[in-house]
Formats: sequence, C-alpha cells, structure tokens
Amino acid sequence: MNKDKNNNIFRSDFMWGASTASHQVEGRTINQWSLWELENAHRLAKHPDPKLKKLKNWNEIKKYAENPNNYVSGEGVDHYHKFKSDFDLIKDLNLNSFRFGIEWSRIEPNQGEWNQVEIDHYHEYIDELLKRGIKPILNIWHWTIPIWFSDIGGFTKSKNLKYFEEFTRKIGQEYANKIDYIITINEPNVYASCSYLTGTWPPQKKNIYLFAKVFWNLSRAHNKAYKILKEINPKLQIGVANQVANIQAKRPHDIFDELSTKWMRYFWNWWFYQRINKYQDFVGMNYYFTDYYTGRIRKINPEVPTNDLGWYMEPEGLYPIILRAWTRFKKPIIITENGVADAGDIYRKWWIEESIIAMERAISEGVDLKGYFHWSLLDNFEWSSGWWPKFGLVEVDRENKMKRKVRPSAKWFAERIKNLNKII
Ligand code: BGC
Repeated sequence: MNKDKNNNIFRSDFMWGASTASHQVEGRTINQWSLWELENAHRLAKHPDPKLKKLKNWNEIKKYAENPNNYVSGEGVDHYHKFKSDFDLIKDLNLNSFRFGIEWSRIEPNQGEWNQVEIDHYHEYIDELLKRGIKPILNIWHWTIPIWFSDIGGFTKSKNLKYFEEFTRKIGQEYANKIDYIITINEPNVYASCSYLTGTWPPQKKNIYLFAKVFWNLSRAHNKAYKILKEINPKLQIGVANQVANIQAKRPHDIFDELSTKWMRYFWNWWFYQRINKYQDFVGMNYYFTDYYTGRIRKINPEVPTNDLGWYMEPEGLYPIILRAWTRFKKPIIITENGVADAGDIYRKWWIEESIIAMERAISEGVDLKGYFHWSLLDNFEWSSGWWPKFGLVEVDRENKMKRKVRPSAKWFAERIKNLNKII
C-alpha cells in the first residue's frame, strides 16, 4: 500500500518518464543495423511488407513505404547533438525520469578499443539529465551491435559473451555511481525472434536452433551482467525490459485455445524472466499488445481499433499483465515502454489515459509499481519499418531542421501528471 505522506495513488517518487534507444534517435550510428539498412533499403522499398497494403492508411503511407530513404536511419533525429534541448522538453512535459540507450558501437568501435570521446559524451549526457532533476535509467543494449561483434557471430556463440561482459563492465565502471537503475537488455524475445526465426531483421536468419541459442545466450549475458554490475555498485537496481503481451484465449472455454494461450504466456512472457529471476531487482515490461489466440497458436484479434502500424489496440490490457507479473514474481514492476504509432495523434491521449487507469487499479490492489515510461519521447526510426510510424510525444520534422513540436496528447499528459502529483 501507499505509505507516502500524500494520499495519491501514485507515490511522489513514481517515475513518470519517456524512453528512447540510441540507434533510433541519435543519428550517424555505425553498427550491424545501419550497414543492413544500406544494403536493404531498395529491397524494402520495392517490396514493402505485404501486410502494409492491407492497412486502412496505406494510401497515406505508400509514398514513404516505397521510398528507399525511409529505411535508412541516417541523421536520426540528431538527438546526439540536440540532447540538451530534448531534455528541456522532458522537463516541460513534467516527466521526472528518462530511459535511454548507450550505443555499444560508439563506445567500442573495434574490439577492446574504448573511445574516450564517446564515453565522455554519455557522461555529459547523464550529467545534463541529473542537472535538470531527471532520473536517468540507462539501457545497456537495445539490439544494435558493433560490426566487429556481428562479424564473429554476435550472440549466437557462447564464446562471444565475454565481449558483452567487458562492455558491461566498462559501462558499470564509468556510469554506475551516477545512476540508480540499469536495464541490461531490451526485448530479448523480440530480437531473437525477428533476427533469427522470422528472418525479418539483420542478420535475417530463419533457424530455430539459432533462435533458441540466442535467446538462451541473452539470458546468460544478463545474469553475468547483473553480477558484474552489482560488484561495482551493490545499490544499483537491475533488470531487463522484456516485451510482454496480454495473451488471452479467443474462446475462453475452448481447450485448444486455452492450451495455446498457456503456452504463449509462458514462452513469450515469462520464460526469460524466470531464467533470470535470481538476478533481477525489478520486472521491466514493454506493453503494446493484447493478443487473442486460438488453438495451433494462431492469433485472431479484433479488427478495430488499430494504430497506424495495424496493431490492434487494447491499452487496458496493461492491468491484467501487471497483475500476472506481480503474482508470479512479487518484485517491483516498471513499465519500461508503452505507446502507440499514431501520426495524427488521434489515439494517444486515450491510450495514455487508459494506461493510467490500468496502473491505478493495479497499485490500488497492492502492486509495487515504480514507474511508467512512454514510448517514445521523440518520433524515431522504427527499425525495419523505417521513419513513417510516429510514436513520439514530440513530433520531429526531419525535412525542416529536425524541428521538434510537442503533440497535443503530450501536453495533455503533462497536465495529467501535474494533477496526479498534487497533494490531496
Ligand atoms: C522496441 C522499440 C520499438 C517499439 C515500437 C519495442 O518493441 O523496444 O525499439 O520502437 O517497440 O515498435
């Protein structure tokens, strides 16, 4: 229960934040992903994902989805240079926390070679957050790897884990005394699936053995990273940001639907957390989806409402997923990502409002919920979909000097946070 001196549902130290990832915003990153973009931009533009053509907004997105430039991260949104004014925006939005990624390929461009200029860049970055009273949540790895690490097989080889450990140690030695929270790995389930099972992301493998190996190795990488970081700063709170879905049976009394639901909940949501449970101080969850499963693991979701990417939207599904995680792990929970691709800013306010209600319900029932990080602070590079999906609280005009404009839903969110924090 809330032991704060005010009576608010959200404690006064609740982390209201936004999230980003280095490769998606910084610009001019040189890693396995940026290389892949250059090699694949024309193919992706020539053969956009067939699912896109079925979207209601296909006519609007067509001109982007068929343009190779859409698939190149390039200058990003130049967050690398504009981070200070972006942090001012965080303040304007009444957010008190920020989750960001460190770009491994900048820090260690060649194996064992540490780039001091880039290390200092992230020092300045964290210091500027602290100066503004914004709590930094540092994310060590969000899918991009240096080219040298990719060339030797990345996370497919157990013997390569030592390189991730060295990188983690470096990050710990440099920054661990400035921060309270660290996330080691973002969405291991999504990375392993898209890169090694469905083959949609680099290195485009479709191999169940490699998928299992990478998933397994990432859990080992986390456990080792946890021990390394705790040795450096025992007070650090360490976890992962896994992708969880509110998985439901399409027909709740159908035995096959129930079985596939059970399996998917275990495999997709819980397996990784379970593997690392001795080595996590909080459960970090990225929530975007409620999915309805029939037998044979087929997903059949309602057709509306959907966001710009065609994803079915059920923001209130955050509540059951929080409760299930709480019942299972009994550890503090942080919503490390949550948001919606919505260029017109039609759904975002509703989405956030429903998410807040879902969190209020969970907290009222005793869940130790520590924070909510909206995805994303800025419009950013949406991996293999490129630039057209817009997740930002803040819109970025890449054609016009990367101009930032706070979306109406974000202004509303800022007011909402202020009111939620009022002493009653
Ligand atoms: C990822 C982000 C991504 C977002 C929206 C999450 O899966 O961590 O990098 O942009 O979802 O797709």
